[in-house]
Amino acid sequence: MKNFKRIFCLALCVFMLATAVTGVASAEEATGAAPFRLSVTVNGDTATSRGFCWYTAEEAATKIEFDGMDESFYKVSDVVCEEWDGNYMHKLVVSELKKGTTYTYRVGDGTNWSEWGTFTTDDGDNKVSFINIADVQASNLENFQVGANTLTEAFKKLPGADFVSNCGDFTNDSTNEEWNYYDEAFGAMNKNFTIVPVAGNHDGLGVEYWFNNMFALDTTESVQIKDGVNYSFDYGNAHFAVLNTNDILAISNAQLEWLKNDMKSTDKDWKIVFMHKSPYTLGKDGKWPDALYLQDCLPGVMAECNVDMVFSGHDHQYLRTKPLTNGQIDANGTTWVLSGTAGTKRYEVRPFLAGHFMNTDHIANLVVQKDGYGNYWDGFSWENTTERNIGYCFETVEIDGGTLTLKTYIVNEKTGMTNIVDEIDFTKKTGENKITFEGDNTTSEMDYTLNIIPSFFNLAKYAIGTWLPEFFAMLPELLYSVIVYDTF
Ligand SMILES: [Fe+2]
Repeated sequence: MKNFKRIFCLALCVFMLATAVTGVASAEEATGAAPFRLSVTVNGDTATSRGFCWYTAEEAATKIEFDGMDESFYKVSDVVCEEWDGNYMHKLVVSELKKGTTYTYRVGDGTNWSEWGTFTTDDGDNKVSFINIADVQASNLENFQVGANTLTEAFKKLPGADFVSNCGDFTNDSTNEEWNYYDEAFGAMNKNFTIVPVAGNHDGLGVEYWFNNMFALDTTESVQIKDGVNYSFDYGNAHFAVLNTNDILAISNAQLEWLKNDMKSTDKDWKIVFMHKSPYTLGKDGKWPDALYLQDCLPGVMAECNVDMVFSGHDHQYLRTKPLTNGQIDANGTTWVLSGTAGTKRYEVRPFLAGHFMNTDHIANLVVQKDGYGNYWDGFSWENTTERNIGYCFETVEIDGGTLTLKTYIVNEKTGMTNIVDEIDFTKKTGENKITFEGDNTTSEMDYTLNIIPSFFNLAKYAIGTWLPEFFAMLPELLYSVIVYDTF
């Protein structure tokens, strides 16, 4: 009995000591004022302005400092310090910077500073280049590191990228733990480039305000900021619009109107859209009405506004369409690029979608990043497979005057080698786009609320009138896929 008591007391002491050690470790973490989760975003004029967002574990002042530059040479505005989910979110916007200049900066409270980071403002010429990634959607550090390695490889291919667009699903559940893993894996890079973030469903749906609270974006024209943010900017001779496809499950009438006005309010030579959900896909989510609704409502706007290219994510495979105008092949149409995942979660091809929700004649390039069935599409058969395609995906885009070059790469899962899997040049006559909208492009809360019912009605009309009959027509092929390939 005595021995039992001794063992019990010893076990209790060990338990209490372990708890105390853990407690001290997390308490230290909880009291720090050192900045973490730092990001630099486009915010306003890319030649003169940037947004900054970071976190501290305790309440602290929100300051930025530039190496060798007095405060009188720039303006700081929109300063925010708010508690968010147990930490403190800091945001500010720096403007009145000089174009074409590389700045070295750090953020903090005046005593506790981040490491120095750098960014470069747009120089105003007719060139812009960027790296695009999507869908890291990780839950553990190891998988975030795979995504970060993909981005490292991308910078080797395009070291001078003006910005990095991320088509969404940064994390799986938008928890503090996951965003900290994201920061641990990407943080060293994040402070040294400008990011164009896109809200994924994992960043916005059911995890309200996380996306907006992770990035200092210009939300003045956003239709709402709860589930994501829509915004736009110019860089070089291109105009970029970022959509929020969490808005009423896909896109509201208000956001469609915003997109139309936004694209009509620019005379830039190239018009590019970033969004999360994909209308043209052969992936897992290509069978659901929310993503497919985008096939119904976006092509008309893209055609009306001469949008050249749309980048999306969500379906974790790479697919580039031929240029399409209102769903028909047309050399002057819009090219739709499903980005492929930079992370480890990769989706098989769903051949049952072909001929129903995806016309295979419209596919210019398809790369399924997994081994086995449908890994490679040659235009005729799903049976092909190639080792080259198995890995993690990123794109580079370089615009120089009237030429846009898109290159898509896979970082091979086994060898770590980076192989090009798609490459295409687009050319156009510059100076053709005209401004046809000048005015207020903001959406009032009242307008948005009044639009909710018609927006849902449009989605429901599409789901019942178009999607459902086609889904039933596809059902035999879908069931065959489930039985034979165990793929839904
Ligand atoms: Fe997604």
